[in-house]
Amino acid sequence: MQLCTIAGHSHRTRVQFLGIEIEIQGAVLRPRKETELLGRVAKGLLDEIGGDTICVDMCCGSGNLALALARHSADARVMACDLTDDAVQNARHNVTQLSYHEQITVMQGDLFHPLTGLEGGVDLIVSNPPYISTSRLLCGDRSHLLREEPREAFDGGPYGITLHTRLISEGAGYLKTGGWLAFEFGLGQDRQVGALLKRARAYEEPIWYTNEAGENRVVCARKR
Ligand SMILES: C[S@@+](CC[C@H](N)C(=O)[O-])C[C@H]1O[C@@H](n2cnc3c(N)ncnc32)[C@H](O)[C@@H]1O
Repeated sequence: MQLCTIAGHSHRTRVQFLGIEIEIQGAVLRPRKETELLGRVAKGLLDEIGGDTICVDMCCGSGNLALALARHSADARVMACDLTDDAVQNARHNVTQLSYHEQITVMQGDLFHPLTGLEGGVDLIVSNPPYISTSRLLCGDRSHLLREEPREAFDGGPYGITLHTRLISEGAGYLKTGGWLAFEFGLGQDRQVGALLKRARAYEEPIWYTNEAGENRVVCARKR
């Protein structure tokens, strides 16, 4: 991944994500190398589901995960959703530039709100939501992140798992029976994430994926 020094949020740069060149414009997170693990897991799930699939890239940012899914399977239709103007604009730009506008629709709103009407119709939800606690981000060891990238990309609420809590509970309503939820979480959040999945009572036993250091960073769970 290309790392560069950027002044404020008015930058424009390019990064590689799973072999796709992604343009980053404005206050949008640069896709991280570590998120390629989630991209690979999601591509494997697409293969397992097979055929025409309805996918959601929730918290899409630049659209990196949506683009990876669309490139992997011409039969995948992807709804890419984000809260912020900059992310939605940037994702739409990338989708158009890379000619995936027939496969990917970029939508704006708070989590699943733009997807109203699609309840029970989704095969795969992929997400890399914000997962740093507000205190670590605003005045702790992660505050440096805000020099170059927007708060919305990182702020996971008081305990860092507010978005995961909603993703797990609200996401279940959008998945088909047998559909998959796959997402990234922060280092050391696996126990909380496991407890949330169990408490939701909507999923089968989760499958965990580790990074190169052997740490759990991605999970997927199938809707019962
Ligand atoms: C960690 S970034 C991930 C971006 C991209 N998917 C990636 O992997 O690089 C999290 C994204 O979640 C978005 N976000 C934060 N809160 C949200 C919400 N309530 N609803 C939808 N998107 C949200 C942010 O704007 C940001 O683009």
